[in-house]
Amino acid sequence: MVTKMKDINKILADNPVVPLVQSDDPASAVAISRALAAGGLTVVEVVFRTDRALECLQAVADDVPEVIAGAGTVLSAAQAQAAIDSGARFIVSPGLDDGVVKVAKDNKVPIYPGIMTPSELQRAFNLGLDTVKFFPASIAGGIPAIKALSSVFRGIRFMPTGGVSAANLADFLAVPAVLACGGSWLTPKSAIDEGNFDAITKLAQEAIAIARTARGE
Ligand code: 3PG
Repeated sequence: MVTKMKDINKILADNPVVPLVQSDDPASAVAISRALAAGGLTVVEVVFRTDRALECLQAVADDVPEVIAGAGTVLSAAQAQAAIDSGARFIVSPGLDDGVVKVAKDNKVPIYPGIMTPSELQRAFNLGLDTVKFFPASIAGGIPAIKALSSVFRGIRFMPTGGVSAANLADFLAVPAVLACGGSWLTPKSAIDEGNFDAITKLAQEAIAIARTARGE
């Protein structure tokens, strides 16, 4: 299924949080994704950090139609293609790699590459991208860095990830150039291990409430 970036970005404009789903068990990945969707977060990133991540992505894509599932931590063009073949509706990378961007573009799949410096952002801009992940946000200069970059790269939207939490989400979202924030704080390992998926739904609801307040809604 082809999903346009503008459609994903529209959902993120309303619910500006992208939770990470990290699992080596497809059934658990499905349960996590359903819990997130129940809390109102419907754009989820299944990260490629376990041996069974591809199966997890496929399971979420097949069994949780209420979410738009993308693949995260995509490091190579081959991984990007495998993710798309398994149903990824968007790709997120920690860095900017021309091969990954090309596979995404060739398949008409939205790509959110990670950038940290002006040079990386300029390269992304010249690859025709207007939305990037800013990673690792807290170490890369946080909000002042995003403000400095966005004063030069007008029209670029940022997805800060890395060190974002309920405690600083509102501050990031108050920056106009920030489209959405990503993070793992919504899917704590302890809750997953205990099978406490309600806790994940509550964290999703909390994030949405913070976002609404931050955006003055
Ligand atoms: C990512 O892959 O986007 C980051 O590892 C997320 O960082 P966090 O765990 O600090 O949210």
